[in-house]
Amino acid sequence: MSVEFQYIDPDKLNEVEAKKELERLALEIQDLDNAYHKNDSPLVTDAHYDALRKRNNHIESLFPSLVLANSPSTRVGADLREGFSKVEHLKPMLSLNNAFSEGDIVDFFGRVQRFLNLHQDEPICVVGEPKIDGLSISARYKSGRFVLGATRGNGSIGENITDNLSVISGMPLKVNDRQFPDQFEVRGEVYMSKADFINLNEERKSIGAKIFSNPRNAAAGSLRQIDPSITKSRPLSIFFYAAGVSSNPIAKTHKEFLAKLEHWGFCVNPLISLCENPEEVVDFHRNIASKRADLNYDIDGVVFKVNRLEWQNRLGLVSRAPRWAIAYKFAAETAETTLNEITIQVGRSGALTPVANLTPINVGGVLVSRASLHNEDEILRLGVREGDHVIVQRAGDVIPQLISVILEKRVKTSETYIFPDRCPECGSAAIRENGAVVKRCIGGLICPAQAVERLKHFVSKNAFDIQGLGGSHIEELYNDHLIKTPSDIFRLSEYRGILENKLGWGHKSVENLFEAIKAKSSIDLSRIIFALGIPKVGLTLAGVLAKRYESMSFWVDSMMVAKNHDSEAFSELINIQGVGQLIADEIGLFFSSSHNRSEIEKLQRLIKVVNFEGKVNFLSPVNGKTIVFTGKLKSFSRAEAKAKAESLGANVGITLSKKTDYLIVGVDEGSKLEKAKKLGVQVFSDDEWMTLLGEKTI
Ligand code: IVH
Repeated sequence: MSVEFQYIDPDKLNEVEAKKELERLALEIQDLDNAYHKNDSPLVTDAHYDALRKRNNHIESLFPSLVLANSPSTRVGADLREGFSKVEHLKPMLSLNNAFSEGDIVDFFGRVQRFLNLHQDEPICVVGEPKIDGLSISARYKSGRFVLGATRGNGSIGENITDNLSVISGMPLKVNDRQFPDQFEVRGEVYMSKADFINLNEERKSIGAKIFSNPRNAAAGSLRQIDPSITKSRPLSIFFYAAGVSSNPIAKTHKEFLAKLEHWGFCVNPLISLCENPEEVVDFHRNIASKRADLNYDIDGVVFKVNRLEWQNRLGLVSRAPRWAIAYKFAAETAETTLNEITIQVGRSGALTPVANLTPINVGGVLVSRASLHNEDEILRLGVREGDHVIVQRAGDVIPQLISVILEKRVKTSETYIFPDRCPECGSAAIRENGAVVKRCIGGLICPAQAVERLKHFVSKNAFDIQGLGGSHIEELYNDHLIKTPSDIFRLSEYRGILENKLGWGHKSVENLFEAIKAKSSIDLSRIIFALGIPKVGLTLAGVLAKRYESMSFWVDSMMVAKNHDSEAFSELINIQGVGQLIADEIGLFFSSSHNRSEIEKLQRLIKVVNFEGKVNFLSPVNGKTIVFTGKLKSFSRAEAKAKAESLGANVGITLSKKTDYLIVGVDEGSKLEKAKKLGVQVFSDDEWMTLLGEKTI
């Protein structure tokens, strides 16, 4: 998925533009949330994601009346992953407000003091503890037994992961202490140590499994397994740090509470400290920061919590975060190394991304050998050259960043880097469109880099979801020249012999694969729109388009016309919720490639696209026919006639071509009748059409 977004200063947006932008941001953030939380596979850096959310909030603050019901600002975390039952938290699982400087900490103390109306001399004690970069969980106990475990989910409702939590070593399953509350909920963070993360990835690499991008994702992916025996086989650990509900009071202070937890056998982080003022907070933060790289687990800051629980109660919360706590985040970790070579990666959307290949360097406990250079402009901005000494940064991000060049160490013989204007994979031209920052290969489906990725995307879960045709099969079949483009998938049965003789395939698995492909030769419109892999057209937007255009042929025809900005089809497209000019242009670019168009035509011939309600009458006389209406119809409005034809399996187009089967002519027909005669397209009058459908006899 392409992640670039055009930055228009929020203060310069008018109301109409702001509305469009909020709709676009809601869809984009939702897609990113899904990738991150449901599939444990982030698509963008944390910084990029934060920037999108910040932009959304900024625009909302300028136009409060435009806040959408599904605004990202109203959601905590992501929606829930399918497969686990749901658990309602007895007390919501909150997030924390962030501090980035000493000033923010002084403000925090000020806010607490004012809210509680404390005297200036009254000390406010806070407990500092490392902020673990893992996955928050809640564990419920009844009569000393662990009975229910849940993820945070959306903050109010999480996923039931009782079985998975109970197999983590160090998870107390039974607590024998008279003081232990009869009903008790405790919260903590599941994480994977850096060493365990490296070992697990090594193991996965050796068996060809997907590598986790960081310990946090490895922990999330391991905990949210439907089969708890998989969770058990993964090296997970857990720290506990907060209470949910409790049937009787446990302590008067947070520090005492942590001591009680430890006494009952819950693992509590040892690096805690009591601080009495902002100076002590800053000292402790600095102290933990200096230990950070040596710790065997990732942390991304220090959490400070008001120690007196009675004060915590009085302070309460504001929106999604408590007033009594603050997360003092660390500045990103950096290190110096040399950039040996700049290579270009070509993504599924054809975007050329420069990558800095580095002399491997340890950044905060993680070995970094590559960093993203984003795009051509970023290389220019940094002025970076091959051979330069550079500073790289890792901020809990998925992809390490290259921050700056140490010019004093530059060798005299180095040369300015020239960004290629040809795709390194297929040699097609690489262009920057209308001021876009990203250079893109225009090779479409002929470019191997794009083809394999597009094919993988095409068969992926939310697209065609073809069982038994995973990423590795696609690569194999692509390399064997059996599948080069999506439509080849539906002709694969022509190669039965070759497939059955392939190593590790055999008759049965080939048969199963053919069955699985056949099962998907009738597909939902939203899935095929998503499957095409048009940049910026994610799952949600594909659904919106399917709902609006209802049939494949109508959508395709409309998109072809919408390439023209003066057309009605274009203004209709950009007025759809979540579509703006940027997205419309992406769709236009996709349809301007003849490779893409011919591929869509092949797909239309090979598969049946149903509308999202799946109501298609396969036995009707017009099933599979391409129909164009012209002129005013006597008995039906155009919309009703179109809906009727589509419900009978016809594709309703708007332009007449050789591929049109029938032209239905109403009363004041236009120039289409002449053209149809020239093209040899069968023409029906309004009445004849009704007769064909069995609605009327002449
Ligand atoms: S306290 C009411 N303490 O940070 C606040 N959270 O950004 C409850 N986290 O969702 C959280 N280490 O997953 C707390 N020592 C710690 C933490 C911690 C990590 C996570 C937690 C929370 C997130 C908020």
